[in-house]
Amino acid sequence: MSIRIAPSILSADFCNLERDLTRISHADLVHVDVMDHHFVPNLTLGEPIVRRICEVSAMPVDVHLMIEDPDRWAPGYAELGAKSVSFHMGATHAPVRLARQLRGMGCQACFAVRPAEPVEPIFDILDEFDMVLIMTVEPGFGGQKFLANQMDKVRRLRDEITRRGLDTHIQVDGGVNPSTARTVAEAGADVLVAGSAVFGADSPNTAIDEIRDHAQE
Ligand code: DX5
Ligand code: ZN
Repeated sequence: MSIRIAPSILSADFCNLERDLTRISHADLVHVDVMDHHFVPNLTLGEPIVRRICEVSAMPVDVHLMIEDPDRWAPGYAELGAKSVSFHMGATHAPVRLARQLRGMGCQACFAVRPAEPVEPIFDILDEFDMVLIMTVEPGFGGQKFLANQMDKVRRLRDEITRRGLDTHIQVDGGVNPSTARTVAEAGADVLVAGSAVFGADSPNTAIDEIRDHAQE
């Protein structure tokens, strides 16, 4: 399985975003965390900044919405040019309708699951999604400790995807670094988000290479 690495700009320098985007040229996607002070106790950025990121990024933009009422707001991010938009199980009212709306706009739909949420409820609607995001920290902040107890969830999801012959991607977000990458990939994830491990490194591209190498060992 080919592994894709998605650096999270949550750990980038928000006053030098364009510069930091050029420092992650070895990545496959750029992961943008949108937080609203309601769904999570943190506030980041919204449409005007995501618009500029989509315009200047050489890589496809993967938007992770940690906001209330994504049913209302997610299509706006698809319209700005995001390649994929993730919204949370605990925030959406009509996930199938929203996924179909996003896909109809040419955007990949992704369902996100917090650590305490089960993945099984998604199984009945799995074919409506391009990707499932398994959080390995409580959403809201970068630099938290990786929750290895989420790996069973990743394995159960990978088994279900394989059993049904689907091509759904599994993204893991939170605490991914060169030491945890192997565990994550072995469990069956193929899209690895890493924030502090990439932007906290002297060379973000070297950190990306290391995460990829360990994941593919
Ligand atoms: C946290 C965000 C993550 C965050 C990950 O809620 O969704 O994308 O940036 O940061 P690290 O890789 O530092 O755990
Ligand atoms: Zn994220």
